[in-house]
Amino acid sequence: GATLAAGAATGLLAAGCSLDAPLVRSPAPARPLAIPPLAPSTRDAAGRRVVELVAAPGVAAFLPGVATPTWGYGGLPFGGPTLRARRGEDVVLRVTNRLPETTTTHWHGATLPARCDGGPHQPIAPGATWDAAWRIDQPAATLWYHPHPHGATERHVHRGLAGLFLVDDDVPVALPDRYGVDDVPLVLTDRSFTPDGRFDEAHRNAVGLLGDTVLVNGTVAPWFTATTTRVRLRVLNASPARSYRLAVDDGAPVALVGTDGGLLPAPRTVTDVVLTPGERAEVVVDVTPGRPRRLRSLPHDLGAVNGVARAAGGDDAFDLLELRPAARLDPSPPVPAVLSREVPLDERAVSRTRGFVLRGDRINGRAMDLTRVDEVVPAAALELWEITNRHTLPHNLHVHDARMQVLGPGPRAWKDTVAVAPGTTVRTLVRVGPYTDPARPYMIHCHLLRHEDAGMMLQYLVVGPGQAPATVLGGHDHG
Ligand code: C2O
Ligand code: CU
Repeated sequence: GATLAAGAATGLLAAGCSLDAPLVRSPAPARPLAIPPLAPSTRDAAGRRVVELVAAPGVAAFLPGVATPTWGYGGLPFGGPTLRARRGEDVVLRVTNRLPETTTTHWHGATLPARCDGGPHQPIAPGATWDAAWRIDQPAATLWYHPHPHGATERHVHRGLAGLFLVDDDVPVALPDRYGVDDVPLVLTDRSFTPDGRFDEAHRNAVGLLGDTVLVNGTVAPWFTATTTRVRLRVLNASPARSYRLAVDDGAPVALVGTDGGLLPAPRTVTDVVLTPGERAEVVVDVTPGRPRRLRSLPHDLGAVNGVARAAGGDDAFDLLELRPAARLDPSPPVPAVLSREVPLDERAVSRTRGFVLRGDRINGRAMDLTRVDEVVPAAALELWEITNRHTLPHNLHVHDARMQVLGPGPRAWKDTVAVAPGTTVRTLVRVGPYTDPARPYMIHCHLLRHEDAGMMLQYLVVGPGQAPATVLGGHDHG
């Protein structure tokens, strides 16, 4: 495999990790796209929406005649049902762990109290049940959920634990919204298989686990039959390490309508969208009568330093999904000119600037320590965070409980995970949530899961006026 220049061999790269990545195959469309079911829910006496999720081992058939052992949520062998809740609703998300080891369930992108976050401080032992209960109060967005156990996130996610969490707003917007019909979830991930049909967990490179086979909602080589003249695709990159550059038919224009944290103010015409691990995008694609279109991933230069693009899967072009028009298409309304009236974050109102330097498997020279408080941020603060990648590998930075807007040319989009290419600095406005807790932290970390597990993660507390932050944190909390 390729080797890095001397001096780059720090941290993650020191152990002689190769940069080789498997080339991704593009088999002919073979199966209809699976649509994750919506999670069933009940109402409790207090009127709260209760969703019960069990995490358990299963067996899935990704390849014909091959049984693959997996982990999944909600009775699915792989992935998880799609959660859906409306702004203003009280939810109780109840997770039972039927796995053979301790896990956690993190609600990625949610604004929520730290005790509900489901990060490494909220472990769920085998056989135990954990409740996360809060009031949904954030604009419409495509969130997701996945395990976050300290040092084992990559393995738990790679075994199959990941699902979508859709938040609806009170303010209606005339985008396609019939789930699985014209509002289509696409959970992208990649796996390689061992000769006996297991997920290959052995062949990591310096970015993590990369596979040669793309799964879309767990389907290999899927097609989707569109029955409307436009479809909204909600795309999640749930891969441990691979980044994608999405395009339709190698560069036809599509309307980007949403990113991680919500809808754009107005649709933006784009020809491609790059998604690093953890990021989401919502696009509206025109369906042409009689002509199938392909959703593909094109080569990207996210890590184009010393040949590292290959390591992040950037060399490849491969198919993700064939979009097949039905014989008859129902007309869809045009994409609205105004999608959201949410006020953009105002750079002039920033109360503080912080710097984060990504290098090796460290942030600001530090490795994750569950007991250490790295940053303390006032509740609901608006800050400017400058994130610098001083490494030869691509990284990104995900901030729990925060909604972010990257400064730069072009209209602002709501983010919770931002890509930072080698040798670059990203300046981003960060609005943290309103909930305070002087003793329970939120996480800041690289969402390339191998890097997170290797310690590329810090912790921050959100405190109210006059509230004294803890100086030492417990390893995990008990309610
Ligand atoms: Cu999607 Cu801290 O994670
Ligand atoms: Cu990283």
